[in-house]
Amino acid sequence: MNFYILTLFPEMVMNGLNTSIIGRASKAGYLNIEAIDIRDYARNKHHKVDDYPYGGGAGMLMQAQPVYDAWDSVTKRTGKKVRTVYLTPQGRRFDQPLAKELAKEEDLILLCGHYEGIDERVLEEVVTDYVSIGDYVLTGGELGAMVMVDAISRMVPGVLKNEFSGVTESLEGNLLEYPQYSRPEVWQGKQVPEVLLSGNQKNIDAWRLEQSIERTKERRPDLYQKYEEMQECRELLRQQKLLHMDMTELIERGQAELLYAQGKNICLRDTVSGIVFLSVEDAKNGKEMVETVIVREKPELLVIHQEYMVPVIEKMLQGEVFVACHQFVYTKREKLPITGLYRLDGKSEEHQIQIRKLDMQHLEIANEHYGMMDDPGYIQGRIEAGKMFGAFYGETLAGFIGLHEEGSLGMLEVLPEYRGRHIGKALETYLINDCLEHGFTPFTQVVEGNEISMKLQESLGLCKAKQKVYFMEKMLYNTSDL
Ligand code: ADE
Repeated sequence: MNFYILTLFPEMVMNGLNTSIIGRASKAGYLNIEAIDIRDYARNKHHKVDDYPYGGGAGMLMQAQPVYDAWDSVTKRTGKKVRTVYLTPQGRRFDQPLAKELAKEEDLILLCGHYEGIDERVLEEVVTDYVSIGDYVLTGGELGAMVMVDAISRMVPGVLKNEFSGVTESLEGNLLEYPQYSRPEVWQGKQVPEVLLSGNQKNIDAWRLEQSIERTKERRPDLYQKYEEMQECRELLRQQKLLHMDMTELIERGQAELLYAQGKNICLRDTVSGIVFLSVEDAKNGKEMVETVIVREKPELLVIHQEYMVPVIEKMLQGEVFVACHQFVYTKREKLPITGLYRLDGKSEEHQIQIRKLDMQHLEIANEHYGMMDDPGYIQGRIEAGKMFGAFYGETLAGFIGLHEEGSLGMLEVLPEYRGRHIGKALETYLINDCLEHGFTPFTQVVEGNEISMKLQESLGLCKAKQKVYFMEKMLYNTSDL
C-alpha cells in the first residue's frame, strides 16, 4: 500500500514511521510511505505557504496553490484521483472499521494542516474524507497522520508476521483484549493465572473470552453495549442456523457491523468486503430497513435471506439478483480425513498432489479459469491476503480454492485436464480443516443448478439450508433516478 503524506514537516512524519513494525514492513516492500513537502511547491522566492485569512481573525492559513500542486504531483504519478484524507478535528472519528476500510485502498493521500487551517477552496477540490483522531485539538495533522498510517498498515496483508494477529486483538468484535502474561510464573508474589499453565486450549480460550467480556464491561461500557446487542442478534439468527451462517460467522470473526436490529429484522455490514446482509421477518420491516439503512449506506452488494423480499427490494431499488445460492455448512467439529487426497509434507510423489498457498505467479491462470468475479483485482487481493490455495503436481497447478473476504469457501476450480481425480474434494477438505483449526465454521454458497458442487458438498458431509440466499447488485440509490 502506498501512503503519500502532504505536510510542512516531512522529517517529523518519516522519523516516526521508519522504525519497528512499520519501518520493517516498508523495507520489505509491503508499504511505501512518502512524505511530500508542501513547501517545495510554493511558487515564491521565500517558499512561503501561508497568509492572513480574509475577514480577519487569529493566525495564518495555508494557501490553496502549494497544497493543490503537492496533491496534484501525486495524482500525476499515480495516474488517477487518489482517496484523500484531510486530518482535522472537524472530521469523522477515526476507528478500527475505518482503518480496515482504508487498508483496502492501493494508494492513500493524507493531508496535514497547520496554523489555523487550509484555504477552504483547495479542500473542496481535493479532499474525499475529513478525519479526526479524537476530540482534542493538535497543533497540526502530522501526529494524526502517523496514527492513521500505523493503524491502517497493520491491516495490510504481510505487515504483521502472524497474519491472524491483525484480527484477534483489541477492538475486534467490540471486545477489548484479555490480559496477557509472560515469564516468570511468579513476579513480586503475583502468580500467572492457573488456567494459562494448564495446556488445555479450550479452557484457555473460554477464560480469555470471559476476561475480555469483564474488562470491556468495566472499562468501555459503550463498547460492551454494542457487544451485547450483537450477541442478541447472533442468538436470533441462530434460530435458522444454516440459512444465517454467513451472518453469524461475520459476528464470530469480529467483522460485523450492526446496521439495523428490530426483533428478527437484522441488517449487518461486513466491514471487510462492504457487503450488506439482511434477514427480515416481515415485508413492512424489510421496507423500513431498505428505506432507512440501505439507502443511507448504499452498498454495492446485498445478500437477501428471504425470497419474498427479492421482488420488494427489486421494486424499491431496481436492483438485480444475479445469483441465488444454497448455503452449505460443515456443522461438525472433527476434521475431515485426508488420506489418499493430498500430502501434508513437502515431498512430492508423482501421483499425489500437494496443497499450498498461491502466489502472484499464479494470478493469471487463476483469473483465466475462474469466471465468477467481475473484479479482476479480487483474486489478486485474496492471494495477497494468503487466502488462496492451490493443488500442485510438483510445480504444476491443477486447481485452486479460496476464502472469500466475508469468510465463505469459494472460487473452487479444477483445471479441465485434471478433472475426475478428486482434486476438488482434496482442496475443499484442506480448506475445511484449515477453517476448523482457526476456530471458524466452514460454509460455502453453491449457485443454484451447480449439481457437481452440490454433490461435492454432500459427499463431504456439509448440510444444506432449505432456503436460498439472493445476491443483488446494481441498485439505484439516487431517488431522482428511481
Ligand atoms: N489536527 C488537529 N487536531 C486534530 C485531530 N484531533 N485529529 C486529526 N487532525 C487534527
